[in-house]
Amino acid sequence: MRALVVFESMFGDTKEVADAVAFGLASGMKVQIKEAGIAPDVVDDSVDVLVVGGPTHAFGLSRPGTREDAAKQAAGAGVISDRLGLREWLAGVTLHPGLQVAAFDTRVNKPRLPGSAAHAAERRLRRLGCTIFAPAESFYIRPKSPVISLPQSEAQAIRNALEATGGERGKAAQLLKIGRTTLYRKMKEYNLV
Ligand SMILES: Cc1cc2nc3c(=O)[nH]c(=O)nc-3n(C[C@H](O)[C@H](O)[C@H](O)COP(=O)(O)O)c2cc1C
Repeated sequence: MRALVVFESMFGDTKEVADAVAFGLASGMKVQIKEAGIAPDVVDDSVDVLVVGGPTHAFGLSRPGTREDAAKQAAGAGVISDRLGLREWLAGVTLHPGLQVAAFDTRVNKPRLPGSAAHAAERRLRRLGCTIFAPAESFYIRPKSPVISLPQSEAQAIRNALEATGGERGKAAQLLKIGRTTLYRKMKEYNLV
């Protein structure tokens, strides 16, 4: 038996679940794991089991716009799936009719927040003629802490002030209500010079 796990992930949570799924499957079969952007366009009959996973975005599978939003949220850190999402992969892939499939997603655990990427993926897989061997499943992600450290917030305040004043340190220091010398010292401390 051979399995293929295809995942989309922006910040790494869905990748973590996909890795765990692949690890679990590997106890009974040969497993390949592929990110959606580099997954094959054809899944031929050498593969018996396909598991797909993606993050829930805007109540369903991600779209280019929601992935752009995620990339903005990730700021400098970047995202894992920066080419295609699971929606696009499922729209283009050719699957063989005997394939056994299952879908999962990651999402936030908020009451009254409907929608799941896994259910959307499962509907598509059903339409492609596959057999669902396990129902769509959601894994709730741990909420990221809204707290940032005091040095981080100080560095951010300095960046904002410099941006607002076009880099003029005198004016930035005034906005921050600190002396020019203190501003310069802190800029060096936070590698902002
Ligand atoms: C643009 C955007 C839209 C989102 N919409 C939803 C949503 O409708 N429901 C939900 O439960 N989570 C939503 N989330 C949270 C994601 O599900 C969460 O970021 C994802 O599970 C993290 O997985 P990843 O690290 O693999 O990207 C959204 C996240 C982003 C960035």
